[in-house]
Amino acid sequence: MRTEPTYASYLRLDELLTLQEPRSAEEGADLTTVRSEQFFIVSHQTCELWLKQILGDLAAVEGHFLTMSAGGIERSVDLLYRAGELLRLLREQLVALERLPLEDFAHFRRYLGTASGAQSSQSHRLEGVLGDARRPGSLFPAFRTGLDHIGVDLEEIVEAGVEAGSLHRVVEAMLQVGSGYFQWKIGHIGLVTKMIGEQRGTAGTSGAAYLMDRATMPFTELHELRGKMHERRQKQTSRLP
Ligand code: HEM
Repeated sequence: MRTEPTYASYLRLDELLTLQEPRSAEEGADLTTVRSEQFFIVSHQTCELWLKQILGDLAAVEGHFLTMSAGGIERSVDLLYRAGELLRLLREQLVALERLPLEDFAHFRRYLGTASGAQSSQSHRLEGVLGDARRPGSLFPAFRTGLDHIGVDLEEIVEAGVEAGSLHRVVEAMLQVGSGYFQWKIGHIGLVTKMIGEQRGTAGTSGAAYLMDRATMPFTELHELRGKMHERRQKQTSRLP
């Protein structure tokens, strides 16, 4: 028979709270440095946990796009907004990490070797879902396929705005995710610039300059459609007496 769970057993806290192992502790660094390294580790671990949640939620959204049931569309809106909130949280975490004392970071950075966020497979997967300005990810084409399935044109949704109801809400929520993702990247550049200036990253890239080149907004097609709508509206209003 299963025993009644406790807070600690349900959350597996015994395991979770032993997963932070600052290397500086092994070398007898002072406690302030060890705590700072723990802060750095926890920031990355929580980031990976939220990425896990975001990826799962966005996979569910893609599933709903395939069927395009009324309930599924509403659920996608909720899930997309949740992913947007989590991306906001990720950015906030980076702002908190700006409180990492530079001298402590300079002390323990050597333990990273060539380890870098650039190796985060979950962040690669997220990029594969959302895409960037150069390549579309899997989410947007899934939405397009779903719309084809129910015989709706994306341009019409953009044109109709709130009149398009739940499909308009999906578009708005998707844009929120795109913006959250972009803001996360920008926040990361801010942190990197503050922490290492123009130094190279541990993965060997040029650091902030490399990241700036990679920070682009996903859902280009959607932005283009919105831009075109302005053009059309301008033409319409210029024809008015
Ligand atoms: C002091 C804190 C941090 C510094 C100095 C830093 C620095 C860097 C640098 C320089 C890069 C470029 C690749 C390289 O050459 O290493 C990078 C990439 C990356 N970092 Fe950070 N990072 C920090 C915190 C974080 C945190 C908390 C996360 C959250 C998981 C994160 C996630 C990433 C990701 C996902 C990439 C790849 C980005 C891309 O390819 O566009 N970083 N980081």
